Amino acid sequence: MNTHRLAVIPGDGVGPEVTTAALAVLDAAQQRFGFATERTEVPLGADHYLATGELLTEQAIDTLRGHDAILFGAIGSPKVTPGILERGIILALRGTMRQAINLRPVRLYPGVPTPIAGLTPERCDMVIVRENTEGAYVGTGSTVHRGTPYAVATQESINTWYAVERAVDFAFRLAQQRRHRLTLCHKTNVLVQAGALWSEAMRVVGERYPDVETDYVHVDAMCMHLPVSPERFDVVVTDNLFGDIVTDLGAVVQGGLGVAASGNLNIDGSAPSMFEPIHGSAPDIAGRGWANPAGAVLSLALCLSTLGEGLAAAAVEAATANVLADLPALAGAAMGASTQEVGQRIVDQLEAFDSAGAGEDSAIDGDQGRGSLMRQLATVQASLAPGAEA
Ligand code: NAI
Ligand code: MG
Repeated sequence: MNTHRLAVIPGDGVGPEVTTAALAVLDAAQQRFGFATERTEVPLGADHYLATGELLTEQAIDTLRGHDAILFGAIGSPKVTPGILERGIILALRGTMRQAINLRPVRLYPGVPTPIAGLTPERCDMVIVRENTEGAYVGTGSTVHRGTPYAVATQESINTWYAVERAVDFAFRLAQQRRHRLTLCHKTNVLVQAGALWSEAMRVVGERYPDVETDYVHVDAMCMHLPVSPERFDVVVTDNLFGDIVTDLGAVVQGGLGVAASGNLNIDGSAPSMFEPIHGSAPDIAGRGWANPAGAVLSLALCLSTLGEGLAAAAVEAATANVLADLPALAGAAMGASTQEVGQRIVDQLEAFDSAGAGEDSAIDGDQGRGSLMRQLATVQASLAPGAEA
C-alpha cells in the first residue's frame, strides 16, 4: 500500500475548519481507494506568530521538506498587520519550496451558480498555469527621493528563460492530456522584452508538442474572453502578475471563493508541492460553520492527483461536484449545511462510489470523455518524474 507523507498547515480563521473537513474526506478516500497517509500538523499562522514572533522558521522548513506534499488552509488575522503573514509565510513557502507553477482550474460544476448569465458547465472547463516565482513579484526595484515630489519608484519584472520555459513546457504537457489547445496570455504589444521571451518559449517548446494548437490573447482581452466565452480556452499559460489577476476573474466565473482550488507545484521534485483553497481566513464568518469546504476539498483532490492517486482524486472531485449541485447557496447560513456537514456529504458520496464504473469513461471522469483534470494531472506528474520520457 502506498503511504504519502502530508504536512498540514490549517492556519487561521476558517482555515482549520475547511481543513478538518478536507481531512475527513481524505480518510474516506484512503479507505475507499487503498492508500495511506502520515500527517504532520505544522502550526503556522497568526496565533503561532503572536505567541512566538515566528513566521516561517528554518525548523518549519525542515519539517515541511520531509513530506511529499503540503495541505494549506488559510492564514491571516485581524490581530496581525495585513501582509506580514501572507508574505512571510505563503509567498516565502512558494519560493523556498521552488513551487514553480500555480495551477488554477476554472471549471463550472453543474448546479453551481455563476454570475455570468447563460453560462453552462459544458462551456467552462479550463486550467490556468501561472508562473509562480518571478515576473513583477520577485521584489526587485527601489524608491529614491521617497516622500518628495521627485520620488521615483522602480519595480522590475524578471523573466528567466529557465522559469518561463519550464512553465510553458508544463502547460503544453497538460494541454496534450486535454483538448490539445494552449493559449499564451500576456501583453506582448507593450511589454515587448518579457513578451518576446514568452512568445519565443511558446515557439521553441511548441516544436516538442506538434499535436497542441497554440493561441495568444492579450491580458486585457482575456478579461473579456474569459467570462464571455470560456469555451475558447483549454490550458492558459501566463506570468505571475497577469496570472494573479485573471485567476481571480476565473474564480468568480466558476462560482467564487467557496469552490476555487489551487496547487503550487514543485515540478523538479526538489521539495513538496502545496495545495490550498484560494480563499483567505474569512474572519467575518470564522467559528460559525459557514465556510464552504469545497475549495479545500478540491485542493486535496489536486494534491492526490500529483501523488499518483489519480482515481481517488477524480472520485473526490466528482463527489464534491455532486454535493455542490445540491447546495442552495455556496456560503453562509444560506448554504443549508455546516462546513462539517458539507464535508460529511462528500464522504457519503465517496463511500457510495461504485468502483465498477471507475474505468476511463466513467461518470467520475467528467464530461465529454476527456477525463477529469485530476487524471490528466496525474499523467503529467508521472511524465515529469526523474527518468520518465517526455
Ligand atoms: P477571504 O477570502 O478570507 O474572504 C473574502 C470573503 O469571502 C468573505 O466575505 C468571506 O466570508 C468569504 N469566504 C471566504 N472563504 C469562504 C468559504 N470557504 N466559504 C464561504 N465564504 C467564504 O478574504 P479577505 O476577507 O480579504 O481576507 C481575510 C484574511 O485572509 C486577510 O488576513 C487576508 O490577508 C487573508 N488571506 C489569506 C489568503 C491565504 O491564506 N491564501 C488568501 C487571501 C486572503
Ligand atoms: Mg490573487
